[in-house]
Amino acid sequence: MMLIRVMNDMTQIKPNNAVLLNQWSSKWAFILAATGAAVGLGNIWRFPYMAGSHGGSAFVVLYLIFVLILGLPIMIAEILIGRRARKNPVDALITLAKQSKRSKYWGLLGWWGALALLLVLSFYSVVSGWSIAYLIKSISGQFNGLNADQVNHVWHQFLSNPWRLLGWHTLFMALTIGVIIRGVHEGLEKATQFMMPALYLILLALVIYAACVGNFAKAARFLFDFNINTITSSVVIAAMGHAFFTLALGAGAMLTYGAYVPKNVNIAQTVFIVAALDVLVAILAGFAIFPLVFAHHLSPSAGPGLMFVALPIAFADIPGGAFVGGLFFLLLLFAAWTSSINLAEPLVITLQYRLKVKRKTAAVLVGVFAWSIGIGSLLSFNLWKDVKFFHTYTVFDLATNIPTNIILPIGGLGFALFAGWVMKKSATRSELNSKLYPAWRFLIRYIAPAGIFIVFITPFL
Ligand code: PHE
Repeated sequence: MMLIRVMNDMTQIKPNNAVLLNQWSSKWAFILAATGAAVGLGNIWRFPYMAGSHGGSAFVVLYLIFVLILGLPIMIAEILIGRRARKNPVDALITLAKQSKRSKYWGLLGWWGALALLLVLSFYSVVSGWSIAYLIKSISGQFNGLNADQVNHVWHQFLSNPWRLLGWHTLFMALTIGVIIRGVHEGLEKATQFMMPALYLILLALVIYAACVGNFAKAARFLFDFNINTITSSVVIAAMGHAFFTLALGAGAMLTYGAYVPKNVNIAQTVFIVAALDVLVAILAGFAIFPLVFAHHLSPSAGPGLMFVALPIAFADIPGGAFVGGLFFLLLLFAAWTSSINLAEPLVITLQYRLKVKRKTAAVLVGVFAWSIGIGSLLSFNLWKDVKFFHTYTVFDLATNIPTNIILPIGGLGFALFAGWVMKKSATRSELNSKLYPAWRFLIRYIAPAGIFIVFITPFL
């Protein structure tokens, strides 16, 4: 993708040159890259299981509200901060704060985001590794003719072996860091361009299949039949965290891609397109998975294994299922790959410029660090299965929920305050350059900060 092309160019930037000069070649190149970053495991794997374990519609409706009132304005904020400064997140914040005669300690917000990215990358690689394994299981016909119980058994067997999980985790991390270090050859670059649309198509086909053989009506009720009584503070927090996670916000990841956006691109318009595509993929994934969950009497609150059990039941059943399943996991892998590159890239350029090391050294450091943390996540499915914090949370639960539900939203609050209160009005107005500016400014100064704050205090209300 274009993102990979930029990555190739970036390898030529000298570490001490803090200004990033490369730019996306067009509005569409940027939309493609930003969608590649946003659409990933969050939409297809995480959204259904989070909705499933947080009461379905209560989670879905809140998530949609948070995308609208927090996600859209904060994505605009991050991109305009990036484009204004054209630097890595830490330097971007320091530079713009100085321009407004404010403290250079705003740079700490960039490091806060980096912490989130590192933690997310660590478990992201573990789960993406599962997708590679399932790609191979599918095409080798291992699901052919299995019933729901047998598919479930395959999943639990798979998780029980830490070495195997470690192997897949290592492979995926190497794929991510490999792209960051070397860039990618023409072939893969072209392939990725049609992988994303192909993923949308196969998801649509799975929705049609699920509608024909599954319990579609129950799925629709589960996802959209809103009942205000099912809302609890943990649902509100999880829905907000997921909105940040799925849109890649609150950590400086979008800021980093924003640094390459050409001056003439209309930021507001592109942000609407990216968010709409992102939500669409999540809803499609929900409608591909839940009709099967209900038809086969699986538990919607099965947790992280939901997609890895529900979809192979379909692949076991349909003619040519091995191929369809293989294709699905391949496309999922590409979606995860483009997102993990977006997770790693801001970390790498931040280390590169702040520590003044080579891009390659920074990339290896990031990879090794995230890989090591990821081992904790993968062990929580086997050797550390019984290690529970507060009697409930495994290491994996903490590794996924702390960055998503706490670090990203606090980062988002920081970016909202920065764009709304620290940057000069003239600066944000000239970057956004849209009729929507007054509405955005109101949302980013008041609604987004207040919204995040209120969500955080709901457990104490
Ligand atoms: N948005 C990605 C997904 O939904 C994950 C991500 C989070 C990517 C934060 C970059 C930054 O899978």
